[in-house]
Amino acid sequence: MTEWSKYVQTPTFLEATRMMMFDPDTRDVLIKWTGIKNGMRVLDVGCGTGALTFFLAEGVSGCEFVGLDIDAHFIAIANEKKEEYAKGGNSFTFVTGDALKLPFENASFDAVVSHTFLTNVPDPHLALREMMRVGRTLSPVTSITAQSFEFIPAHPGFYEKDHLAYYEEWAELFIKLYAAYEEVLPKKDYLLGCHPVLVPKLFSEAGMWDIRMHSLGKSCSTSNAAMEDADKRRYLELLYEAELEKLDAFYELEAFREKITDKEADRFRELMKLRNDLLLAECGENTVWEWYGGASLVMTGIVPPTLRTLLRMTGKDGGISKQD
Ligand SMILES: C[S@@+](CC[C@H](N)C(=O)[O-])C[C@H]1O[C@@H](n2cnc3c(N)ncnc32)[C@H](O)[C@@H]1O
Repeated sequence: MTEWSKYVQTPTFLEATRMMMFDPDTRDVLIKWTGIKNGMRVLDVGCGTGALTFFLAEGVSGCEFVGLDIDAHFIAIANEKKEEYAKGGNSFTFVTGDALKLPFENASFDAVVSHTFLTNVPDPHLALREMMRVGRTLSPVTSITAQSFEFIPAHPGFYEKDHLAYYEEWAELFIKLYAAYEEVLPKKDYLLGCHPVLVPKLFSEAGMWDIRMHSLGKSCSTSNAAMEDADKRRYLELLYEAELEKLDAFYELEAFREKITDKEADRFRELMKLRNDLLLAECGENTVWEWYGGASLVMTGIVPPTLRTLLRMTGKDGGISKQD
């Protein structure tokens, strides 16, 4: 299996992008939709470095959060971060494991969540069934998936003439590099889940009750005057670092080195630095036109009672004695 944290999205990349995806202004509404309340036991499936877990935890207290991911490097980072967040009166446990065979008892969580996970996991039907299995009867299960708009890159025409020389060279190399990444590790080999538009169908086919669909929009541009300057800088620095990490990881692979020469890789690093310096210099003035955006589809449903529980509830099984 592709090592997600090394080749697909490094922890630095997740930190940058999740910083944009999880806006503190939307925390309360997301907590409401996910049905999380103080004191609950909550599972985040495919948690990566714990971005969603920590984001939600900041709005509740006394919860026991458990995060699971198949990538041990992500889990190690989540475990490093948890001390910082544990101060809020919540506890955190992060474990490496397979979402298709969750290592948890039936009905052992009060709420189950996931973020950009059903789009990646090899068998999203089974993954969702597992999420429902470990949720208590009538407890909420949430899947958040993201759809991105086309990226609008900065255009050399917006900047001083001396930037023109390298900007186009950078763009050409960028396209060449990404074509090589795709040839060496095709997306189809790791984006194995379902398209976000199919998540509602997935919920319906799984027999979830009370299915609801919410959306959260997001956009990110370093020309967004509403964004704090420090946040823009942090975002740019992290993305820059993540880009170089990705190149370094691929550069260890012979198949990649057959497509991209040492000289090209070094030149790309130089141009990335020039470009990042430009973006950093301009972001305070809100003149950078690069723009990313998208919307998150927040699907929620309720774990239905099993047939046995239903029989008990209707008195056909001697009343409700215990939960499945
Ligand atoms: C796009 S990342 C999202 C990570 C995190 N939820 C976030 O938003 O930052 C998808 C995650 O799904 C994890 N994943 C894929 N297949 C998995 C499986 N079978 N079991 C557990 N995790 C899995 C990957 O390792 C990766 O961390």
